[in-house]
Amino acid sequence: MCGIVGFTGAESAAQNILEGLEKLEYRGYDSAGVAVLNDGIISITKVTGRIAALKEKTNNGLALPGTTAIGHTRWATHGAPIDINAHPHISNDGRFAVVHNGIIENYMDLKVSLIKDGYRFESETDTEVVVHLLEKYYNGSMKDCIRKVAAKLKGSYALGILCTEQPNKIFATKQSSPLILGVGVGENYFASDVTALISHTQNVIYLEDGEFAEIDRESIKIYDCTGTEIKKSISHVNWDIQAAEKGGYEHFMLKEIVEQPRAVKATLTPRIRDGKIVLDDLDLDLTGIHKVLITACGSAYYAGCAGKYIIEKLCQIPVELQLASELRYSSLIINDGTLLIVLSQSGETADTIAAMKECSEKGAKTLAIVNVVGSTVAKLADYTLYTNAGPEIAVATTKGYTTQLATLYLFSVYAAGVLGRLSKEKYSQLIKELLSIPKLLQETMDMNSKIENTAKKYFNSSSMFFIGRNTDYAVALEGALKMKEISYIHAESYAAGELKHGTIALISEGTPVIALACNEDIKEKTISNMVEVKSRGARVLAVALNDDKKIAMLANDIIYVPRFDSVFSPILEVIPLQLLAYYVAKFNGCDIDKPKNLAKSVTVE
Ligand code: M6R
Repeated sequence: MCGIVGFTGAESAAQNILEGLEKLEYRGYDSAGVAVLNDGIISITKVTGRIAALKEKTNNGLALPGTTAIGHTRWATHGAPIDINAHPHISNDGRFAVVHNGIIENYMDLKVSLIKDGYRFESETDTEVVVHLLEKYYNGSMKDCIRKVAAKLKGSYALGILCTEQPNKIFATKQSSPLILGVGVGENYFASDVTALISHTQNVIYLEDGEFAEIDRESIKIYDCTGTEIKKSISHVNWDIQAAEKGGYEHFMLKEIVEQPRAVKATLTPRIRDGKIVLDDLDLDLTGIHKVLITACGSAYYAGCAGKYIIEKLCQIPVELQLASELRYSSLIINDGTLLIVLSQSGETADTIAAMKECSEKGAKTLAIVNVVGSTVAKLADYTLYTNAGPEIAVATTKGYTTQLATLYLFSVYAAGVLGRLSKEKYSQLIKELLSIPKLLQETMDMNSKIENTAKKYFNSSSMFFIGRNTDYAVALEGALKMKEISYIHAESYAAGELKHGTIALISEGTPVIALACNEDIKEKTISNMVEVKSRGARVLAVALNDDKKIAMLANDIIYVPRFDSVFSPILEVIPLQLLAYYVAKFNGCDIDKPKNLAKSVTVE
């Protein structure tokens, strides 16, 4: 939700912080700030708005001399996005500055007691209690102080700290929020995620909950929650710098859409060897599994909706779906015969993590399908299948979603094979179909090079409906979410047969209805629903299999995807919907990569 970064070295710290914050801006972008420690004084600069405004205010960091600093980009939770609530926060005596990602749940109680002690609060944030607690408990040792402060805090936090009495040092600790240390040469860092670090170093240390890092330019010391120094291994991140850059595209979203054939190939092909699916990371006895439960949020949940159809069809195991934010409050039957599949691009979504913990406690085995290596979801899971999508920067997920689908496909065929639910011939046919997906994704992209023109006819709509049945419905859910999150157009997805039970009342002259009709098994029924809305004035944009003349005659506009007679066809169908949302948002002048009110990684419940 927020991004934090810290630097200590020999160069301008502010410039390094600003560069890192730009990479983390997708995590939150309503206000930002930097604190530089120079000659025993902490100077803080804050802005309401984006990192660009912070760069301008600080003359690209040149106005802030010093080689040790921390910075923050915010997605407001407690307190409006205005300068006083922006981080870093400073202690009353000016000795400490703090940046924070997460939520201090007991901040009200702490605030009341700190006010009684005489501390003065400047902001409405939960974070500010931390900086006053640091002032209260500091006795010359940061290690002791952090332990005392951490013992007072409830909730989630990744904290970066400066102290005027500790020159050239930055401090970091975490609980349930991500924090990574970057190991450089003559300089060291911390950051909320690796994208902020990879232009400087690919060597990182993943900090665990309760650990505390004391970082100077030559060394990083890490202590566990008892205060004992521990040695941690350095991991090498294989994401390259270009992967986190726009590479000539106008937006990250477009770049990431275009990258999908490659990303899906990287997901599928290393796991298909000699005509067989090999999931090295999945050493699980599937015969004891009576039920699969899928949980996730947003698009990841919608990937799960598509996954349900295919797992049930191929494996003949019952599959339940539950939104992660609802799972803990449901009465689902979960036990050691349950396989929980958790989907997450970031691996840091708070609701998903909470749902996962709940299911683990009840005995479920957990399989994470996740993109970010070393993320909390990956670490918590019994088994992890990485989606290999590379860094996804645009807030609206595209390659994150399709690589989740691809991984679910792999899992379904693998599990169906292990459970003996497929004939040899069917298994080989499915493998062939899986291997053909990257090429077909490229064809889908090429077939839709004119979608920009179609978008021109729809961009000034105030409301849209996305309809489909079965797997087409699962894709409609994702299509509508893409449309609303980046174009701000009200978009609803409906199971096509359900419209006539109420929603059809909203259809009037010119209402856009995006009808997904790629599932040949139920296409005729969807066609009836298209006709129903058309007779009530709707403008129908159909998504159909290449050269489907019948649908072309009925629809006002048509988008084709390649004919792919396969249970895996939904992965193609979503591509034109991503492109349509992209161009509709573009024509509306929207901030495509950073839509309003959103953040990429939702680390609050
Ligand atoms: O990182 P996650 O996959 O756990 O994120 C889940 C959702 O927040 C995410 O898919 C969200 O819905 C996307 N912005 C949609 O494009």
